[in-house]
Amino acid sequence: MSWRRPSSLALGLGFFASLTTAANIEVTVGKGGKLEFIPPNIEAQIGDTVTYKFFAKNHAVAQSTFADPCHLQENGIFSGFTPNASPDIAAPTDFTITINDTKPLWFYCPQTNGNHCQNGMVHAINAPDTGNTFDAYKAKAQQAATPSTPPAGTVPVGGLRKLHIDVGFNGGLMFNPNNVTELVGTVVEFSYNPANHSIVQSSFDKPCQPIEREGGGFVAPFVPTQQTPSGVTFEVTLTNSDPIWFYCAQTKKSHCQSGMVGSINAATEGEKTFQAFKDLATKAPPSTIGPDSPVIGALKVNGTFISSLGGTVLDTTTLDPSLGSEIPPPEMNYPPYIGGMAGGNQPTNYNWGDNITDEAVAILQSLQYVDNFIVVLLLEGFNRVNQGQWSDVYPGSITQTLGSLVAQSLIHRRTYTDSLQHFGKDVVSVCSNYNLDAALKDVDTWLTTVLTGLHLSIGATLDALTLLATSDPWTTPALATGLGSQARMSALVNLMQNHVAAAAPREVLIPHELATSYITSHYAQDAKCAPPSATKDATKSFPALVIKNKVVQPDTNRVTEITIEVPKDTQGGLFIAWLGPWGGLKFTSVDATDSTAYVPDSLSGHVWAVLTSKDGVKVADLDTVTVAGPEILWVSQQWPVTLWSGFLTYIVTLRSAST
Ligand SMILES: *[C@@H]1O[C@H](CO)[C@@H](O)[C@H](O)[C@H]1NC(C)=O
Ligand SMILES: *[C@@H]1O[C@H](CO)[C@@H](O)[C@H](O)[C@H]1NC(C)=O
Ligand SMILES: *[C@@H]1O[C@H](CO)[C@@H](O)[C@H](O)[C@H]1NC(C)=O
Ligand SMILES: *[C@@H]1O[C@H](CO)[C@@H](O)[C@H](O)[C@H]1NC(C)=O
Ligand SMILES: *[C@@H]1O[C@H](CO)[C@@H](O)[C@H](O)[C@H]1NC(C)=O
Repeated sequence: MSWRRPSSLALGLGFFASLTTAANIEVTVGKGGKLEFIPPNIEAQIGDTVTYKFFAKNHAVAQSTFADPCHLQENGIFSGFTPNASPDIAAPTDFTITINDTKPLWFYCPQTNGNHCQNGMVHAINAPDTGNTFDAYKAKAQQAATPSTPPAGTVPVGGLRKLHIDVGFNGGLMFNPNNVTELVGTVVEFSYNPANHSIVQSSFDKPCQPIEREGGGFVAPFVPTQQTPSGVTFEVTLTNSDPIWFYCAQTKKSHCQSGMVGSINAATEGEKTFQAFKDLATKAPPSTIGPDSPVIGALKVNGTFISSLGGTVLDTTTLDPSLGSEIPPPEMNYPPYIGGMAGGNQPTNYNWGDNITDEAVAILQSLQYVDNFIVVLLLEGFNRVNQGQWSDVYPGSITQTLGSLVAQSLIHRRTYTDSLQHFGKDVVSVCSNYNLDAALKDVDTWLTTVLTGLHLSIGATLDALTLLATSDPWTTPALATGLGSQARMSALVNLMQNHVAAAAPREVLIPHELATSYITSHYAQDAKCAPPSATKDATKSFPALVIKNKVVQPDTNRVTEITIEVPKDTQGGLFIAWLGPWGGLKFTSVDATDSTAYVPDSLSGHVWAVLTSKDGVKVADLDTVTVAGPEILWVSQQWPVTLWSGFLTYIVTLRSAST
């Protein structure tokens, strides 16, 4: 089979497949009481998901081979049976599969009561137009032997079976549904609604109290919200068929005692029915909740996983853009979930010494100035990727990772702000008016700008490490920790960029004065965005270096020469200082007649260029001779273009041959 859609080509490049937009296709099963999947015969791309919604009677989705309809194939996908009395309101449980390749997939409903499959209740994904067509499969099913398999009671496999429960349904004090029977392997997803509920597992005997047993039960926090739905969910996986009892621990208006309780797999007769549990709850003492949450289940805010809260209330102002401009004092934290998203909070003490040198103050302010920019830029972009105009660009897992990077950058900025505040020094207020229009033009430009910001920050941190190791040694572990985090962030951003695999970046040392100057010259548009006072000095704010032209070698794609715009009123000889990895610094002269300069042969990947009035100076003194810049430049690809396209052709051939 040839490539049906161009995006499939990306599969050969592994990760890049997920850069194309994945769709979710909804298929109804038995809607209107008919023995039908609607639509019956669909096309889906790699990475797409298909969600089955169940209606009237008691249906399931099961996978067969083309040759043997109505019988579960070996290791075949199976949703589990899903009873539903309503022909037009979907069951609270649905089933989602992910498409891994474009081979045809054949499905049927295995209900034996009424022989649904033999009566034509079949379904296909990516069925061919000729030969083994959907119609041919349906005709075969009508001749298939009874009974269909698997039997009722078989647990789901090969997809995600999810039971959706609304918490605070319709603004009321109830879970909906609150009394269900479910299969082992099902994920129960609780969705929070107004106003301020929690979800806590109890025993049957003591409703409204957390279950007392080894390991405890699940606990999901209070989530005050005014939004329906809030986007906050809590997921618990059913690992056995024992009855589960739960309640909302809100004491204001006694939610649990007023009937806000629920059960999964409660007995339908005998002493421990759902009704009996509800009756016990009305007489229960005031509700309590455990000291921590989330416990056991997975708490998510619009898909972003939150591992810990350090409390029992989740404030849903998640990643509110104003977080970027809030600088908490050292003893105060961001809302608790930020630390959870970041995988841990900042320490309460960085092993500060008794004093801090003026140079360390200036450098920490400079680093904070760069980080302020990165945090604002990340938050702006994250909100677009998470729920704004770029929300369909990346799969949820990438968006989630990005959210954790934003949280990490908030936590890491505290290395500077906590330290400055600890010594009673000024922190750098956050500019409310960066000129970000160009950077936020599209998702790729945003990513490129984020990467540039990270390069600047890494470069300036290397400078800081070099300069402060002796005078302020406590800074070394703190700065190096931040460096590690930013290097990992740039690796992720590198992968997300929609271009050929980038050469592994090598970190370049950038004098911190030049790093702040880059932010000022490119993004600051008013006085509030100017560099921090300690580094503000007429000689330390340089114009941007404008690169007007590049000479690129056609065979290797290597940049060998650049033409710059010489700033007005400059006199005397000019040079380009090339900042390379391992603290390297090379100079080439700028031709006085045509303003060109050669790129040193040894440089590759990203390098930074600075226009200077003198050559041969040390990196620490570069700012004293800088005329303009720095500017980032991509001087070479990992592989020559010819080799790269040869590799692509190879991959495409390989993939075509295997399908
Ligand atoms: C895709 O792969 C996953 C993981 O192996 C599997 O669970 C799922 O059933 C596969 N999807 C299809 C449609 O085969
Ligand atoms: C939500 O309820 C919890 C528990 O009663 C309480 O601690 C928290 O302050 C409430 N939040 C709001 C915003 O009402
Ligand atoms: C989740 O996303 C929705 C839709 O964009 C938004 O309205 C809601 O505020 C988000 N929820 C949270 C808690 O951020
Ligand atoms: C709970 O569900 C069972 C089984 O469907 C049913 O027999 C029972 O009446 C329900 N109880 C309540 C209180 O709705
Ligand atoms: C700074 O602190 C160190 C130890 O932390 C101490 O040895 C030194 O004397 C202090 N310097 C000043 C100027 O206070």
